[in-house]
Amino acid sequence: MSALAARGVHVRFGAARAVDGVDLEIGSGEIVALVGESGCGKSSLARALLGLVRPVRGTVECADRPLDYRRLKEFRRHVQLVLQDPSGSLNPRHTVYEAVAEGLRIHKVPGDERELVAAALSKAGLRPPERFFLRYPHELSGGQRQRVVIAGALVLEPDVLVADEPVSSLDASVRGEILALLLRLRTELGLSLLVVTHDLGLAWNIADRVAVMYLGRIVETGDTARVLTSPRHPYTKALLSVVPEIARQDPIVLKGEAPDPSRIPAGCRFRPRCPAYAAGLPAELAERCEKETLPVLPADRGHHAACVLP
Ligand SMILES: Nc1ncnc2c1ncn2[C@@H]1O[C@H](COP(=O)(O)OP(=O)(O)OP(=O)(O)O)[C@@H](O)[C@H]1O
Ligand code: SF4
Ligand SMILES: [Mg+2]
Repeated sequence: MSALAARGVHVRFGAARAVDGVDLEIGSGEIVALVGESGCGKSSLARALLGLVRPVRGTVECADRPLDYRRLKEFRRHVQLVLQDPSGSLNPRHTVYEAVAEGLRIHKVPGDERELVAAALSKAGLRPPERFFLRYPHELSGGQRQRVVIAGALVLEPDVLVADEPVSSLDASVRGEILALLLRLRTELGLSLLVVTHDLGLAWNIADRVAVMYLGRIVETGDTARVLTSPRHPYTKALLSVVPEIARQDPIVLKGEAPDPSRIPAGCRFRPRCPAYAAGLPAELAERCEKETLPVLPADRGHHAACVLP
């Protein structure tokens, strides 16, 4: 069973095809990393999966049922968003208690509010929880604030967390702690996780599966170890070449402008920047790069790449 899935999802902003046909599944208890450079559509896809933007085509499924946009509030109890704290997810005038209790109040969750807030803080590693109740965000460290944000999501006992760049502004040691926390939530609570990041190193450290996104499409997907040790798509190879922990070759610098989702090239969308194409391919393959419409990659657990090269 998939906890959350995108099926043929397209998201547009005017002429910009921010998400241009994506199939993606997050299995129950699975951690999937969605990676790619800035502007490739990661957050737009994440927002579609959260029901925050409605696809112009395709569907979002939660526990194998199509998302009912009239019942978003109910959906929200299953699928929660975790943003990084500097993006303003914590109100500076609210105490930790208020920040975590907010979700309970919005969703009118029955039960002892104090106990539920304490349990969520505790799951997020803030112990003893009562010590944090009356603190304000500015009295906490960056890592503690991020834990409060996570507690605010956990308090609703969701099945899935969608974490958009959860650690990109934290320093290395704190980043490791938060990643360890996310891994623990999966083991202890069976949570499924979609981690959105531009950092392949982070995907390497946390994800079971990785989906590499380029210009609105997933161009390579598969088991993290497989994809990151034997990447097949030239774009994945280039991204990997600049990750010190995993690089096995000299950095590949991608030429060409940052891609524009309102002008997606025909044929392979990566062709204008593809080092393999630029290096020269046999005429028959080069023509396929220029003209062939590559299919949307399947959402199964196999290793797939949207590239005409074997
Ligand atoms: N609300 C919006 N209105 C108009 N265009 C948007 C909107 N949100 C995103 N876009 C455009 O859609 C494309 C994809 O943006 P998106 O934020 O999904 O990328 P991203 O991969 O999350 O980037 P980043 O790594 O910088 O967060 C970009 O070209 C962006 O300018
Ligand atoms: S299909 Fe061609 S242009 Fe596209 S990534 Fe593969 S080699 Fe490069
Ligand atoms: Mg984003």
